[in-house]
Amino acid sequence: MAGDGERRLIEVRKSDHIEICAKEDLGVGYSYWDDIKLVHNALPEVDFDDIDTSATLFGRKLGAPIVISAITGGYGKAEEINRTLASVAERYGLGMGVGSQRAALENPELACTYSVIKEFEIPLRIGNLGVPQLVKQGLRAPLTIDEGRAAMEMVDAHVLAIHLNYLQEVVQPEGDTNTKGGLKAIERFASSLPIMAKETGAGISRSVATRLKRAGVKGIDVGGLGGTSFSAVEYYRARSAGDMTRANLGETFWDWGIPTPVSVVLSSVGLPVVATGGVRSGLDVARAVSVGASAAGLAGRLLPAALEGEDALTAEIDTIIQELKAAMFLVGAKDMEALGAANALVTGRSREWLDNVME
Ligand SMILES: Cc1cc2nc3c(=O)[nH]c(=O)nc-3n(C[C@H](O)[C@H](O)[C@H](O)COP(=O)(O)O)c2cc1C
Repeated sequence: MAGDGERRLIEVRKSDHIEICAKEDLGVGYSYWDDIKLVHNALPEVDFDDIDTSATLFGRKLGAPIVISAITGGYGKAEEINRTLASVAERYGLGMGVGSQRAALENPELACTYSVIKEFEIPLRIGNLGVPQLVKQGLRAPLTIDEGRAAMEMVDAHVLAIHLNYLQEVVQPEGDTNTKGGLKAIERFASSLPIMAKETGAGISRSVATRLKRAGVKGIDVGGLGGTSFSAVEYYRARSAGDMTRANLGETFWDWGIPTPVSVVLSSVGLPVVATGGVRSGLDVARAVSVGASAAGLAGRLLPAALEGEDALTAEIDTIIQELKAAMFLVGAKDMEALGAANALVTGRSREWLDNVME
């Protein structure tokens, strides 16, 4: 159980994350998604109005291959943000995750900031806990499978994401950096609950994807490099706290990780893959599907609109779906199966990664 002091620190951190991600530039100065070139089809032989953007993920039918990625929960303002995200997920039939639910397992008063999403008909709801909490950290005991089940019940989840966020843990003050037994713990959870392993901005390699598959996870959200960088977030937090050692650490690891499109290719080991990390448009969603993802996840791109309200977020998602449809039209893909088979080239730094990566 967290004491009052620790609880307060977690709430401040969650609030800081939202403020910084909505306001600051956390980009890595290179768009890896632009490395994926879909080849134009001048004779598409598909009528625009016949294009079907629906997709299936974890056996759930979505209106488009889009998941609103884990963003928040566990502090005052989170309930309103999750309500806005959930209302739009319902309207477009999108998947939706919530932020780490550890806070509510420790303090049940916070459960409503997550469970608000149950008020909406969302086709795929994803719970969230972190692998650092599945192993012993100092005096804190690891979370149990029953607590995992309780997290799922809190949001009526179809799948529980276990996030892998050691980049963030190592750059943030007093991060949870005990990692031994993490894979075993995931295996234990996966033997009782439907688990998706999820990185949060540093990507998944082929060898990690293979180990996760053997551990019994149902899918992988690659959470790759190219979008929100938690190292950058910690840089801003440390700088405003006047902690220049931490700020330097955050700056040095700003662009650490495996680029998202590369990670999608490496993580294609026979499980559904969600491509999260730097997805900015419906064209990026189409690119993600073309390199093997079942869906794309978005967080940073949606956050400013989500803070503005339902109308702004609706306009944002509407644009993204129109862009996805336009990309499908221009490659002559009438549905997700055809888009997955469309001719896509991997160029630039992503090509270089794939030609050289050893694992
Ligand atoms: C404010 C904020 C809070 C986040 N909190 C969580 C979290 O609690 N659990 C998690 O698995 N991922 C969390 N993420 C990571 C996102 O789900 C996503 O993997 C990451 O932001 C990369 O996607 P993006 O480039 O579209 O932002 C958070 C992201 C943001 C922007």
